[in-house]
Amino acid sequence: MKKMNPLLNVKQLSVRYATGADEVRAVDEVSFSIRPGEVVGLVGESGSGKSSVAQAILGLLDQHNTTIAGRIEFDGENLFSCDESGWNAVRGRRIGMIFQSPESSFNPVATVGAQMVEALRWHFKLAKVEARQRALAALREVGMPRPEEVMHNYAFELSGGMCQRAALALVMALQPALVLADEPTASLDVLAQAELVQWLALIQKKRGFAMLVISHDLNLVARLADQVLVMHGGRLLEKGATRRVLANPQHPYTEQLLRAVPRLITADMRTHNDHSVKNGVVLP
Ligand SMILES: Nc1ncnc2c1ncn2[C@@H]1O[C@H](COP(=O)(O)OP(=O)(O)OP(=O)(O)O)[C@@H](O)[C@H]1O
Ligand SMILES: [Mg+2]
Repeated sequence: MKKMNPLLNVKQLSVRYATGADEVRAVDEVSFSIRPGEVVGLVGESGSGKSSVAQAILGLLDQHNTTIAGRIEFDGENLFSCDESGWNAVRGRRIGMIFQSPESSFNPVATVGAQMVEALRWHFKLAKVEARQRALAALREVGMPRPEEVMHNYAFELSGGMCQRAALALVMALQPALVLADEPTASLDVLAQAELVQWLALIQKKRGFAMLVISHDLNLVARLADQVLVMHGGRLLEKGATRRVLANPQHPYTEQLLRAVPRLITADMRTHNDHSVKNGVVLP
């Protein structure tokens, strides 16, 4: 079988922030790639540089205090050669984003529906009626209860879980080839977390987009990711197939991360006949 070209190719990426007289090496020569349809998990403790990697991929780093080196290719195109209009065509449309705070995906002064319709019209040049239909279809696809009503809601009127689901619908409506999800469940309660992960897994399988999922939650990563990257102090310490990395970590830091997972073995985990539990993580 012919090997698929990577959709995203991050080569020797370094990100440094100038903070007064000091410089923070947030990302230090990090290289990895994501193939079409592949889900890659990026894990590591707070401050290890995970969000800086995501922001570099989206061109969201502040030019004034940031030095970026390396190269990021998306679909064969060098993202660092994009001008602002190039980035606007990539962000949202070709690379979708889900952030930790669900409200940050929406403008507080417009309804969820108005924003979805506007994004659809802008990216696909659709008539209003068709954009509205597609927005509603996307809300239904993510299992949103009462989607017609939600179209008229502002983000702050929704619960965190519903708001994150609406953010996922907004992403899905634009049909990106790659989705970056930076701590998508971190601000949600445990039930809303479980629901969102379920929908994310379901929709990813159905649509087949590639995804970079950043999380502290190794169970979330084990559930979603084919490959795992382990970051520490700006460096990539380990990468490999999810099951291999989590069941048989090669780097002592990965073992340390695994040891830090709370040992909460639930009835649900015990009844997972086709899964095994190691270090409190349900292996894929
Ligand atoms: N805009 C900025 N200016 C200066 N330093 C920054 C900036 N953004 C991040 N940093 C620093 O860069 C390092 C990496 O931060 P980053 O947010 O990428 O880590 P992270 O792995 O996403 O952490 P978390 O899990 O807490 O979200 C940290 O030391 C952080 O303090
Ligand atoms: Mg972060």
